[in-house]
Amino acid sequence: MSFHSVRQAPGRLNRSELAVPGSQAQMFEKAAASDADVIFLDLEDAVAPDEKAGARKNIIKALNEIDWGTKSMSVRINGLDTHYMYRDVVDVVEQAGERLDLIMIPKVGTAADVYAVDMLVTQIEDAKGYKKRIGFEHIIETALGMQNVSAIAAASERNESLHFGVADYAASMRARTTVIGGVNQHYSVLTDPDADGNRAVHWGDMWHSAVVNMVVAARANGLRPIDGPFGDFSDPEGYRAAAYRAAVLGCEGKWAIHPSQIALANEVMSPSAAEIDKAERILKAMAEAEAAGKGAVSLDGRLIDYASIRQAEVLVEKAKQISGG
Ligand code: GLV
Ligand code: MG
Repeated sequence: MSFHSVRQAPGRLNRSELAVPGSQAQMFEKAAASDADVIFLDLEDAVAPDEKAGARKNIIKALNEIDWGTKSMSVRINGLDTHYMYRDVVDVVEQAGERLDLIMIPKVGTAADVYAVDMLVTQIEDAKGYKKRIGFEHIIETALGMQNVSAIAAASERNESLHFGVADYAASMRARTTVIGGVNQHYSVLTDPDADGNRAVHWGDMWHSAVVNMVVAARANGLRPIDGPFGDFSDPEGYRAAAYRAAVLGCEGKWAIHPSQIALANEVMSPSAAEIDKAERILKAMAEAEAAGKGAVSLDGRLIDYASIRQAEVLVEKAKQISGG
């Protein structure tokens, strides 16, 4: 291990993160009753310019009046390049900051963007005498944000998570996409011809390196990496495949832009019963080896190294969180 210790963000459950437009107040109660771990009420791209002020009012009322249970509540503010953003922060934090857990900052480009919002939120929290500190979620969704992702991840003690905003990222990169968060058949390799001259096409994941970059920056700074939207909510298999790809690379959650995607995210982002069982057996074997004064731990005839033990600890901790234990 490095001598540098990484401070971990609060261990918030973040398997599914439901997006709800702030202008659609009729959707709030259903969202509150859902199984989403985190909900972000949106003031940004799902809300038309002439509805921004009304959406802000809806969100303040909803945060104060609806019973959101134990869900983590977030508000996606407008970008720092708009004139909506300061009032999003001032009005929402002043008037509903006690129920607000997180602020989601879209299109974050530099560490200074984070600093600016941190300063504003700190002043409001101090003036209001709030005890709890609001955390930050950052959407990495521009070329600039991706270039500066490590500095952004390290920019504030409020930082909790980085999110891959694939739709805006594609726009910023001028990438060729089909459906939001989906793959493109042209990002593929063609095998050499076999004896009969046949060639196979292997589709690749065009988002792979972007997600990896974000996961590295998140984990190196103790933050949760979260995968963003999958646009076609009539394609659960496509969603599941995208969520698994992200999970395999280390993401611990994914957005749901439709209620039907919540269960899919929770399923993919939760450890399976077999994984939990194995992790528990690894920890038991370790404890037994320690008690017997043995240096090497083995399970089912295989040697277990310390990396597997650390993975097992993380998994068992996550399983406890999910079961509320
Ligand atoms: C999310 O905001 C995205 O642009 O994908
Ligand atoms: Mg976006």
